[in-house]
Amino acid sequence: MLSAIREVEGWTPSSWQERTALQMPQYPDADALAVHLSELREMPPLVTSWEILQLKQELADAAEGRRFLLQGGDCAENFADCRSPHIANRLKVLLQMSLVLAHGLKQPIVRVGRFAGQYAKPRSVDTETRDGVTLPSYRGDIVNAPEFSEQARRPDPRRLIEGHSRSALTMNFVRALIDGGFADLHHPEYWDLDWVRHSPFEREYREMVRSIGDAVRFMESVGGAPIGSLRRVDFYTSHEALLLHYEEALTRQVPRQWGWFNLSTHYPWIGMRTAALEGAHVEYFRGIRNPIGVKIGPAVNADHLLRLIDILNPENEAGRLTLIHRLGAGKIGDHLPRLLEVVRREGRRVLWCCDPMHGNTEATANGFKTRRFENIRSELEQAFDIHAACGSRLGGAHLELTGENVTECLGGARDLTEGDLERAYRSSVDPRLNYEQAIELAMLIVCKQGARIREAG
Ligand code: PEP
Ligand code: CO
Repeated sequence: MLSAIREVEGWTPSSWQERTALQMPQYPDADALAVHLSELREMPPLVTSWEILQLKQELADAAEGRRFLLQGGDCAENFADCRSPHIANRLKVLLQMSLVLAHGLKQPIVRVGRFAGQYAKPRSVDTETRDGVTLPSYRGDIVNAPEFSEQARRPDPRRLIEGHSRSALTMNFVRALIDGGFADLHHPEYWDLDWVRHSPFEREYREMVRSIGDAVRFMESVGGAPIGSLRRVDFYTSHEALLLHYEEALTRQVPRQWGWFNLSTHYPWIGMRTAALEGAHVEYFRGIRNPIGVKIGPAVNADHLLRLIDILNPENEAGRLTLIHRLGAGKIGDHLPRLLEVVRREGRRVLWCCDPMHGNTEATANGFKTRRFENIRSELEQAFDIHAACGSRLGGAHLELTGENVTECLGGARDLTEGDLERAYRSSVDPRLNYEQAIELAMLIVCKQGARIREAG
């Protein structure tokens, strides 16, 4: 069999089980877990190996400066949000942002959703105590339920099957929307831009939208190649591959390819809490052929980073590894330059992506977990600047956002305040940019980076 020609030394889809696996639920019934995992192993995959390899090539291009990655979606998907308006609105905001970015950065955008499988969450503590009662923490809908009762919080392996089904339903709908008439969204005259009048950059934004509309109409009127790339938008999925039992069950061999693919998603990533060099997650990831991401927090030093790269991308393969730095607006200036320097000096091929969300989470006096638009914007702008100053390149942005008009992050053109948070705070985990804040962020990136491109130009 061709797949035996190459293999990753000492690795099997289950070799992670010999390592310490952090953030895993304790299933009370091991037999039930085994039954549901064997059912999962027989279920069809959610993505294909050729899509995965195509994405890897596009990420290699992004690392070389020929594309820009936009990755975004909910912090945690909920089973209950597997509904058409939620899915369509989230896809719509990502497509609209990607059009703003493509136009302003003058580059094709690699579009990746944080969805169709973003159901498992790491938690800072294993248990939660309320009124003297201690129960397991909520770990995402693929593990247990958020209600504070013994039954809801008990890890239930039937949820693995439910997670797979809901991911497949989401994926199916996204593929249908993209193949169908969703290209209409490329026409900014249909966008919801009422918020623009609250922004000091109203004139610039209106001009940008007008010019995107002109460009689309021009391409449509001349036809030919560009129109195809506007109509047939490729879209990929990603999630934090935290629940290794689930990931293992969807790790498969395919005809005419060597090795193993995680076919639950195109682009899994390792979260900050599970990126230990000797840990189970790094072990699992080193053996799959997907392009992979790893979150880099302020605790990672240069030596740790190099060893992580050695393990995850020993052959220095282009497109294989994305480093997603999430350092915080106040810390990125202290930490990022030395990380960029060591990677550059050692000649490692990576795609650098900025997550300006997770280093900027704070709690308000009235008890909401929030993030300030200004800090998100600042971390992203600093990331572009620091990369440019260090002779590196920021190749992508990783965002938590939703297509709904929730009130979870502060600021933005409408200047949401702490008092606004209770109005429409819906996230069960981290606060997301709402529709307007997400589009505004894309426009701000373009105003700033577009000026840089014109200067260089
Ligand atoms: C996340 O992406 O939702 C997350 C938990 O991020 P991090 O691992 O960077 O904290
Ligand atoms: Co999050």
